Amino acid sequence: MSHPPSRSLDHVAVALDTPDRESFDQWCALFGPQVGVLKVGLEAYVRWGPDAVGEARRWARRVFLDLKLHDIPNTVGGAVSAARDLGVDYLTVHAAGGPRMLAAAQEAAGDGLELLVVTLLTHLDSESLEALDLEGSSADRVSRWTALARAAGCAGVVCSPLELARLREENPAPFVLVTPGIRGLGSMGDDDQRRTASPETALGAGADLLVIGRPLTRAADPEAALRTLAKTLDGVG
Ligand code: C5P
Repeated sequence: MSHPPSRSLDHVAVALDTPDRESFDQWCALFGPQVGVLKVGLEAYVRWGPDAVGEARRWARRVFLDLKLHDIPNTVGGAVSAARDLGVDYLTVHAAGGPRMLAAAQEAAGDGLELLVVTLLTHLDSESLEALDLEGSSADRVSRWTALARAAGCAGVVCSPLELARLREENPAPFVLVTPGIRGLGSMGDDDQRRTASPETALGAGADLLVIGRPLTRAADPEAALRTLAKTLDGVG
């Protein structure tokens, strides 16, 4: 695209989820200069390792390494240090690892990168939560786990769009709220995301960063989808 990037696209992280290296490189070059963040997820990292991070860093202002770490504190601390050495800006860890794991992760992160704590994955609907024996309201659980993340000194959380309003009220800025599960950008069929919202609703509800994958990367015309998204978000607030 020849026009300058829209400022509202600063709030967008494009999820580079693909098994195909050519697509990964194309998406880095297409989306990297336009949006605030490129997100390297498990799929790309397991295939191409630090090289995927390097390619994203070539094009993006900020890089988000979404490894959703969940292990004993010592192991997670070591992995966070390694991610820090890679020069990423954001890294995810699971709240379900508990307070000691979060503290070890935050100690390793220091001021070298921002830790984003995954609360409940957005594909989990009430049926899945019941099957996992996670009774009670998911909103209350997310709120409690967010309090743990904040107490550990982490930068923010990843939550579903439906939890944003409550979390924003309970956790004022600069605590960062990141939300995937963005849908309603043109036509996309049913997929694995369940607790979803439109980009403008999520931004209006207090999200700092919208993680968007397939609605952009799998759009028939990804550049047109990005332009539509920029226009939609420019109208918020
Ligand atoms: O393609 P889609 O827009 O669903 O991509 C969403 C991205 O956000 C994926 O990369 C997924 O791994 C990530 N994510 C998520 N739910 C979370 C945390 C991250 O969907 N709770």
